[in-house]
Amino acid sequence: MCGIFAYLNYNVDRERRYILQVLFNGLRRLEYRGYDSAGIAIDASDFTSSPPLVFRQEGNIESLVKSVYQDVSEIELNLEVSFRTHAGIAHTRWATHGEPAPRNSHPQTSGPANEFMVVHNGVITNYEVLKATLLLHGFTFTSETDTEVIPKLAKFVYDNANEGDQVVTFSQVVLEVMRHLEGAYALIFKSLHYPNELIACKRGSPLLLGVKELAENKENGSAFEENKFLSKDGKPRELFLSSDANAVVEHTKKVLVIEDGEVVHLKDGGVSILKYENDMGELGASLSRASSVRRALSVLEMEVEQINKGHYEHYMQKEIHEQPESLTTTMRGRLIRRGSSKSKSVLLGGLKDHLKTIRRSRRIVFIGCGTSYNAALAARPILEELSGIPVTMEIASDLLDREGPIYREDTAVFVSQSGETADTLLALQYALDNGALCVGITNTVGSAIARNTHCGVHINAGAEIGVASTKAYTSQIVVMAMLALAIGGDTISNQARREAIVDGLHELPNKVREVLELDQEMKDLANLLIAEQSLLVFGRGYNYATALEGALKVKEVALMHSEGILAGEMKHGPLALVDENLPIVVIATRDVCFSKQQSVIQQLHARRGRLIVMCSEGDAASVCPGESCRVIEVPQVEDCLQPVINVVPLQLLAYHLTVLRGFNVDQPRNLAKSVTTQ
Ligand code: F6R
Repeated sequence: MCGIFAYLNYNVDRERRYILQVLFNGLRRLEYRGYDSAGIAIDASDFTSSPPLVFRQEGNIESLVKSVYQDVSEIELNLEVSFRTHAGIAHTRWATHGEPAPRNSHPQTSGPANEFMVVHNGVITNYEVLKATLLLHGFTFTSETDTEVIPKLAKFVYDNANEGDQVVTFSQVVLEVMRHLEGAYALIFKSLHYPNELIACKRGSPLLLGVKELAENKENGSAFEENKFLSKDGKPRELFLSSDANAVVEHTKKVLVIEDGEVVHLKDGGVSILKYENDMGELGASLSRASSVRRALSVLEMEVEQINKGHYEHYMQKEIHEQPESLTTTMRGRLIRRGSSKSKSVLLGGLKDHLKTIRRSRRIVFIGCGTSYNAALAARPILEELSGIPVTMEIASDLLDREGPIYREDTAVFVSQSGETADTLLALQYALDNGALCVGITNTVGSAIARNTHCGVHINAGAEIGVASTKAYTSQIVVMAMLALAIGGDTISNQARREAIVDGLHELPNKVREVLELDQEMKDLANLLIAEQSLLVFGRGYNYATALEGALKVKEVALMHSEGILAGEMKHGPLALVDENLPIVVIATRDVCFSKQQSVIQQLHARRGRLIVMCSEGDAASVCPGESCRVIEVPQVEDCLQPVINVVPLQLLAYHLTVLRGFNVDQPRNLAKSVTTQ
């Protein structure tokens, strides 16, 4: 939730117009993280005598852009004025504390003089205590946010520390502020007192630094030797801070993923990093006790094209259609031939040192939220079949609510596209505390889940920007099918099955390409359903997860009530809903549950149910009980991979329903992509 961004140009002339453009573009790249309000802070033309300018606006980034340019004429904000060095900060918000409104938008400030300005992603859990203390010291608050305590605390620290001759540095102020903060945060500070400097720090929420050298202009050249970039050498450079790589990759691929507890100080073109240590003592002692850290930059494995829509109208549409490619990337280098028999197998490098322990576990527990949970549910049957180990499912928040049992002998598998979901992260901490072996399955290299699990697999689906997860879901299923192959014993008895799955994986991208040809058919179906209030989706076995995921897509983007129903439970309640008006999708592709689903179709038909049946190619006549029934025929693949195929028409249906109903498909109401708050 929330995206934070900063741009610092050092020793190179940049007009205000350009600076604004960089800040706004950064926010556009992060908009999927929150889009109910936005803001920026930039310097006044004469920043030595005037306070920085803060703009905040309710609504999406374009509303902010419009309001800033409107102010240009009102307050004669000169766009041509040039800054040799300038530090700007920006924020896009998904409201947690306080409704979307300019006063609750960020940057939050220490007061009208904008002495300290802060953009924040996360939640400060002890803000009420801090606020009460600051109120006692005469501070007044203008927002309902948890964030407002941070700049006010910074001012309090600064004012107190600067009594007498003592002069504190910006890092010292921030280290002291951090000492008082509880909760999760990524923060960027700008200050009137420290012009042209920025401080970034984090605990829990993601943040990275991008470095672009302008002198050599050699992205891959020697200028980036380890640690050299940190020096204050006077060379012109641009520095970026961002919640994720999407907003940085168009400027530079050289990044540093900031770690928890680090305080990154951008000053005079240099970057210094201090590590916040717990219990650092009082202010003054804090800086001397904070240890200085030297880190090397890494190179982003990401192309700008990945974060553009290309010829598509929406990110969700693009991400649905690029699944043949994303699945290919997920499997690249991982399907192999092993042993003297050259039997087909998989290689998951991130797990190789832990496979024995996983095989010995008493149970495997899948833990995730939303779509990631559904993906794990889709993979559960094949993992049980090939490993023979009991597999249980946990929604992260529910596991925490119940404090459900997790044992040392368990393998806990954490599935998360972003790798930053707060509930999943807390469940990870809980499983670590209980001594389980923790495995991460994530799409985000360097994310908290990738870093804090013992081992794991990246799904390599590429950046997913549409808030509704689509390509990550199918790549997650494929990774978990490969996990089942890796864990499961390679015995004579299961060799044919294993080979069939590996062959199925090889074929999968082409089969997905085929199923994508249903696009127009799903648009036609969406047209028929456009005015409906509700849609049920029945599935079972491998495709119970498909029913849940299809329904989740329809409800979250098309804003239509939709429910995924386990077909085996039909007679225990849901049948009461069936009449001639309510549309029902029944997934009845070929697998071990096929005949049971045929019987479900008959029973729904007997109650005059309005049926849309998804079946394997060639089965239309045998599954459809009457002419009123609509059919979606999909290519048949190995049963455990069928959920990858079957979800695609439902993704397309949700997409078209949303567009036809006139809703914003990439920014569904009230949602944001990475849910970094509980
Ligand atoms: C739905 C969706 C969410 C996420 C959930 C977990 O389309 O995207 O349900 O799946 O918020 O997010 P990650 O996978 O990032 O942990």
